[in-house]
Amino acid sequence: MTHSQPGISAPVPEDARYLSFSLLPESAPLEALEALADLAVDDSIVIGLGPSLLAQLDVDIEGMRNFPALVGAGIDIPSTPVALWCWLRGDDRGELVHTTRAVCAAVEEAFLLDEVIDAFRYGSGLDLSGYEDGTENPEGDAANAAAYVHGAGAGLDGGSFVAVQQWVHDLDTFSALDNDQRDHVIGRRISDNEELESAPASAHVKRTAQEDFEPEAFVLRRSMPWADAAREGLVFVAFGKSFDAFEALLNRMVGLDDGIRDELFCFTRPLTGSYFWCPPVEGGRLDLSRLKG
Ligand code: HEM
Repeated sequence: MTHSQPGISAPVPEDARYLSFSLLPESAPLEALEALADLAVDDSIVIGLGPSLLAQLDVDIEGMRNFPALVGAGIDIPSTPVALWCWLRGDDRGELVHTTRAVCAAVEEAFLLDEVIDAFRYGSGLDLSGYEDGTENPEGDAANAAAYVHGAGAGLDGGSFVAVQQWVHDLDTFSALDNDQRDHVIGRRISDNEELESAPASAHVKRTAQEDFEPEAFVLRRSMPWADAAREGLVFVAFGKSFDAFEALLNRMVGLDDGIRDELFCFTRPLTGSYFWCPPVEGGRLDLSRLKG
C-alpha cells in the first residue's frame, strides 16, 4: 500500500513514544497540521487526528467516530478522546526525545502536549505477562485489506482508523495464578505459543478469534508494553479500514454478545480509549487534502 503511513505496517520498533495533544482555544489547527505534515512522514512517526480536531476543522471523514464507553459486569471501558496523537517509533530514546521536541515545535500554535507514554519492545515481542503478542496478525495483502481504506477516493485511500487504549496490568495477581491458569486466561501455552483447544470460552484468544466473527474481524495490532515508576501494562493499538472490527472484538471481550467475559480482565483494565483517523501520505508528506473542503 503506497499511500499509507509507513510506520503502520512496519514491525513494532524497539522504543516508542505516544504523544497526546489537546487543542488550544481559538487556535488555527490547519496551519499547525501543515507544519506537522512538513516533517517527513517515514516509518519513524504515525499521526492520528481525533474527533474534536476534525470537528473543529468542520471535516467529516466517513467512518470516523468517537470511542464508545462500554460497561460490562465489573468492567469499565472508558472513552477518553484526544485531539491529536503521534506514535514516535525508533531504537534510540535520545532520537525520540528530539523528535518529540520537533513535533511540539511544529504544532505549538494550536496544540498542547498533554501526555507522553514511553513504550518499549519486550523480548521477541511479548506482552509483560510474558505471552507473545501479535501472532495472529494478518500479513501482506491480508494486512493491507484489514488496515487501510480502499476505494473511497483520493485523500482517503491508504488512510487508516486506529483504536488506542492504555491498559494497566496487575502482574502480582497474574503471577499468583499457576501456569495452566495463566495459559487459560490467554488461551495459548506460554512455553511454545501453541493455541489451546482445551481453553475455556472466556480465554482471550477464543473471545477475539478474528475469523469467528461475521463479518470476519481482522485488525492490524501494533501494541507495545509501557511502564513508569509505579505501574506497567500495554498500549493496545489496532489499525483498521474502519472501527467495526475493533468494536466487534471489544464487545465480545466485555461479554456484550453472549455474557461471557474475557478472562484477561482478571489482571488488566483499560485506563483510556481513543479513536483517530490516520490520513494517507502523498509524496512522503501527510495528505491533508480532505481537511481543506
Ligand atoms: C492488555 C490488553 C491485551 C493483552 C495483554 C492482549 C494479549 C494478547 C495475546 C497474548 C494474544 C495472543 C497472540 C496473538 O495472536 O497476538 C492476543 C491475541 C489477540 N488479541 Fe489481544 N490483548 C489485549 C487486548 C486486546 C484488545 C482490546 C483487543 C481488541 C478489542 C484484542 C484483540 C486481539 C486479537 C484480534 C487477537 C488474535 C486472536 C486470533 O485471531 O487468534 N486484544 N492478545
